[in-house]
Amino acid sequence: MHVGILTGGGDCPGLNAVIRAVTLALINEAGARVTGIERGFEGLLTRRTRVLDGHAVEGLLAQGGTVLGTHNRCDPFRDQSAAGADRSQQALQTVHALGLDALVAIGGDGTMSIAHRFCALGLPVVGVPKTIDNDLAHNDRSFGFDSAVAVVAQALDRLETTARSHRRVMIAETMGRYAGWIALEGGIAGGADVILLPELPVDIDAVAEHCRQRERDQGYTLICIGEGVALQGSLVVRERIADSPDPLRLGGVGVLLQHELSQRLGTEVRATVLGHVQRGGTPTAFDRVLATRFGYRAAELVRQREFGRMVALQGERITSVPMSDVADRNRLVDADHPLLATARGIGVMLGR
Ligand code: F6P
Repeated sequence: MHVGILTGGGDCPGLNAVIRAVTLALINEAGARVTGIERGFEGLLTRRTRVLDGHAVEGLLAQGGTVLGTHNRCDPFRDQSAAGADRSQQALQTVHALGLDALVAIGGDGTMSIAHRFCALGLPVVGVPKTIDNDLAHNDRSFGFDSAVAVVAQALDRLETTARSHRRVMIAETMGRYAGWIALEGGIAGGADVILLPELPVDIDAVAEHCRQRERDQGYTLICIGEGVALQGSLVVRERIADSPDPLRLGGVGVLLQHELSQRLGTEVRATVLGHVQRGGTPTAFDRVLATRFGYRAAELVRQREFGRMVALQGERITSVPMSDVADRNRLVDADHPLLATARGIGVMLGR
């Protein structure tokens, strides 16, 4: 058996741990040959590949990023580097030329959507969910999320010392796109006094009043805001990337909130955009274990020839779901999620 592995979309702590686990499990339990496809689906067009064996995956468990490289724009069904042409047949030719019996695609909703389309053309694919945003459907936790939350918590710990010393309002803006998972868990872990999520309405006057009250009582306020919060009815867009499956790159809502609050409070407010720091570096122990479990299960699905499925964590169990159920969908924070009640219960303000 000859199996290809690729990583698509943004990088994320734990990708290398999945590559390692898939490779080792396929070699040990199926005697398979494994080949890495470089830079996501682009590698199927450029034919850039590398051998993955025990030696190649040594030392990968704790390494951030992806040794295979990745691409967040390449869609062979609509190749923007070739005026939007459908080059899927060319990608399939590479699969045949390499003699691949199956492909493991590690990525987010965009990658799953492309993988699903290849499946429909007869390519045997297994998916592994990847995103620090933790927003893939039917999957309770994706690897990389815990590492991102740890960065947010540490950043809030650090911002709090300045907030306390200067009696300031300090704002940390997190990633997460349209989902508030990173802001919610990072905010709770870092002891934020106000947590603002894309899923919940935000009343700026009420947030200002909360800060005023805290100024009187505690002297300072620590705010954690998700980049996808539409503070004044629209998203704050940092950049538009025309040829990306999701062209909007969010960022800057923390600075907008800083502006709005300093006008209302007349005191010092500072904002920090945590940005890509949340996505880089070594995965936490939790993410290493989850990535390894996902990788092992993906190898098992390949061995059992259960294609068109994505591995998933549901409760404590690693299971799998049809890729078609995941493609192009987001899992947002529900209004009745227990963590919201927990946050409110300990006095965290959630927007109004
Ligand atoms: O989806 C992961 C993510 O890090 C989001 O949280 C963020 O909005 C986006 O990717 C940033 O993308 P880029 O690396 O293209 O700026």
